[in-house]
Amino acid sequence: MRCAAIIPAAGSGTRFGSDTPKQFLPLGDRPLIAHTVGRFHRFSGVERIVVCVSAAHLATMQAIVDRFRWGNVKIVRGGESRQESVLRGAESLSRAGLGDDAVVAAHDAVRPFVSSELFEHLLAALDDADGAIPATTPTDTIHRIFNGLVVETPDRSLLAAAQTPQCFRLGALRSALERAIEQGWPATDEAAAVARCGGKVRVVEGDPRNIKITRPSDFEAAARELANWSDE
Ligand code: CTP
Ligand code: MG
Repeated sequence: MRCAAIIPAAGSGTRFGSDTPKQFLPLGDRPLIAHTVGRFHRFSGVERIVVCVSAAHLATMQAIVDRFRWGNVKIVRGGESRQESVLRGAESLSRAGLGDDAVVAAHDAVRPFVSSELFEHLLAALDDADGAIPATTPTDTIHRIFNGLVVETPDRSLLAAAQTPQCFRLGALRSALERAIEQGWPATDEAAAVARCGGKVRVVEGDPRNIKITRPSDFEAAARELANWSDE
């Protein structure tokens, strides 16, 4: 089974609010994104990694790839939305010769604590599905609101807070993202697009350590978590 990763890293980090996008800020001895890419670089079976960055950060990302001498990491320009960034990464993998049945994992640049165990679980879950994603059951009660008023309160056990890596066959991912963009579907992850196209996306137990760095307080949590991870 051929396998590759797409790391969307073209966001500007509006909620984080720093001048330098959060994925390029230092975490320990290297930029945050270098931890994330480094993990996939060490996962066995991942033959290629595509990192999608904005035009302004192509050189910054190239310097990181050079520093770590990652021969199988390709940099492409991301898009206006996360969907477009991931689609550009997927197109680049097709151009590199990966077939529609290759497995691709789309993973946030800002989730540096992804374990090989979680990745293996996801690959195993893809066996009888079109996609596999990690998710946790929300601990807070989630309401649907309108104009600041509670409209409905879905049963929490029917809700899943999605993480990444989100794994799919390359062909299914590409066609779902193309359709999502064409039709203007709002989607903050790939699973939404694939499921809306009729794909079966299996949910596996997410990892609470696999945090996404969204706001400055998440960065502080990441600095603490870093001590538990080795880069060997
Ligand atoms: N991303 C991307 N291309 C975009 C938007 C987002 O590649 N046009 C990436 C981000 O760089 C990040 C991941 O998608 O690695 C998850 O997004 P998020 O945490 O929302 O990051 P930002 O979009 O940068 O932050 P914000 O939503 O606060 O602006
Ligand atoms: Mg965003």
